[in-house]
Amino acid sequence: MTLFDIRGRKAIVTGGTRGLGHGMAEALLEEGAEVVIFGTSSSVLTVAESFSARGFACHGLVTDLADAGRREASFAEAVALLGGQLDILVNSAGVQKRHPAEAFPLDDWQAVLEVNLTATFAMCQLAGRLMLAQGRGKIVNIASLLSFFGGFTVPAYAASKGGVLQLTKALANEWAGRGININALAPGYMATEMNSALLADKGRNAEISARIPAHRWGSPDDMKGPLLFLASAASDYVNGAVLPVDGGYLGR
Ligand SMILES: NC(=O)c1ccc[n+]([C@@H]2O[C@H](COP(=O)([O-])OP(=O)(O)OC[C@H]3O[C@@H](n4cnc5c(N)ncnc54)[C@H](O)[C@@H]3O)[C@@H](O)[C@H]2O)c1
Repeated sequence: MTLFDIRGRKAIVTGGTRGLGHGMAEALLEEGAEVVIFGTSSSVLTVAESFSARGFACHGLVTDLADAGRREASFAEAVALLGGQLDILVNSAGVQKRHPAEAFPLDDWQAVLEVNLTATFAMCQLAGRLMLAQGRGKIVNIASLLSFFGGFTVPAYAASKGGVLQLTKALANEWAGRGININALAPGYMATEMNSALLADKGRNAEISARIPAHRWGSPDDMKGPLLFLASAASDYVNGAVLPVDGGYLGR
């Protein structure tokens, strides 16, 4: 096996139906892992079928990670599909709500925190129990530049992603010595549906593009290499770290 070899590894990717999660699921599949993707609607089944039609070992699971009562059963179902083993968990499901802070509805605050932070913790905990018993595992959380910056009109998202970064460090402290690598990727400005409002806003779009040293928005494909690093033996001595995937934005 080479450092980056993940052939035969068993993985779960939440939010794997589209955007960055889709790109990261594709990266694992292309390298020979077996993957269960989680999505809220039956379109996750269609996406899994289209991956399978390309010869990949992919399963789709319909589940709403905002529903706390269903997370454990969905996780168990996914692990059963993978034959009882889990080597890699990628927490990519996420939601965004935009309102001026003074008018931010509490319901939206709770919806964002529930999916982005609480469900991420719950999935880490479920995977962690199994991986601790196995004596090995790789967990990759998806943070954001909003783990570092406060942003505008996105206080819940910024709070949730700040939390994801701290959570990643906290879990790494407890699990690094017990075979689990847990780290985070912090995507920059990526052209996905989550950013359709920003992409459509010509002024903000131009402002953002001008500030990115790489001079372009990122894409789901840009997540592939960084993910494979954190999901493989190449990162065995990397714990509680965050790797920005942002075309240089943070360093500017
Ligand atoms: N696009 C960006 O610029 C950017 C930047 C930094 C971080 N991120 C993060 O990357 C991750 C993926 O973002 P994206 O741009 O691909 O977004 P996206 O909106 O294209 O995809 C989000 C995915 O999460 C899933 N999801 C949402 N709520 C869910 C729930 N309750 N249960 C299960 N699945 C749910 C959706 O079905 C979808 O597949 C998110 O965590 C996001 O916060 C994105």
